[in-house]
Amino acid sequence: MGNKTMAGRVSPKMIRTAALAVALLGAAWTVPPASAADMPSVASQDWSFSPPFGTFDRGQLQRGFKVYKEVCASCHGMNLLSYRNLGEPGGPEFSEEAVKAIAAAVEVTDGPNEEGDMFERPGKPSDRFVSPYRNDQEARFANGGALPPDLSVMAKARPYGPDYLYALLVGYIDPPAGIEMSEGMHYNAAFPGHQIAMPKPMEDDVIEYTDGTPATLSNYAKDVTAFMMWAAEPKLEERHRMGFRVMLYLIVLAGLLYFAKRKVWSRIGH
Ligand code: HEC
Repeated sequence: MGNKTMAGRVSPKMIRTAALAVALLGAAWTVPPASAADMPSVASQDWSFSPPFGTFDRGQLQRGFKVYKEVCASCHGMNLLSYRNLGEPGGPEFSEEAVKAIAAAVEVTDGPNEEGDMFERPGKPSDRFVSPYRNDQEARFANGGALPPDLSVMAKARPYGPDYLYALLVGYIDPPAGIEMSEGMHYNAAFPGHQIAMPKPMEDDVIEYTDGTPATLSNYAKDVTAFMMWAAEPKLEERHRMGFRVMLYLIVLAGLLYFAKRKVWSRIGH
């Protein structure tokens, strides 16, 4: 009875469509970004946060913040982050107390007070990350005319995101023979055009790690990249969980449609 009318609605086409949707969803995760054509090729790294199920490694985020704070923060701001955001991933080094202490260690310009003057005060968790320069002019002046970009969303702003950032940070090599370097520029294997105004920011052993992770340039670069990825996409884990549920739903749906199709068509001879 009801089955007869169903027969008109559940077609193999629908099943194919559902299967295609599942396949496309999978493919969307691996398609390279469109604007990547003129970039030097970058090797892909193993990231704990890679799709479809990846999560951030808390220890890595803490080390990455340390690298940012001790090295990158002297030139780059992360203006979209507040100190209290550091507490969101959790972990002992980002406890409420720890975040308060991190914030209190920075000087924030506030005001004006009742006499109309700006004044300095210790930071609070609700303050945005303090930028190293008062404005872009000062930032350019201090960096030979080049502007160190804000790193808040850098991991999402560049093609190949984290893979590129890692390659950039470990990509300082001697220029190949015959390459004429412009003044104040540094050769970098990963940077488009290979001449970058940022000097090599770090090397082995410049930052102390206390959790047993070897203090190498490669680890610094990985950790600070993971930190930038978290900053750019703090909801990544939620998105992966949601993606997983959607996949599961589609797979179950595809299965149901398949069996519905079998049942509906079972009475029709071949
Ligand atoms: C001495 C100042 C200085 C330090 C320290 C520094 N940077 Fe830079 N950075 C710059 C400048 C200047 C630029 C702009 C370069 C250009 O446009 O040629 C830049 C550019 C960048 C870019 C953008 C590259 C692109 O594709 O456009 C990234 C990413 C970056 N820095 C990350 C970092 C990280 C991570 C650290 C810490 C490990 C760091 N920087 C430390 C000065 C610095």
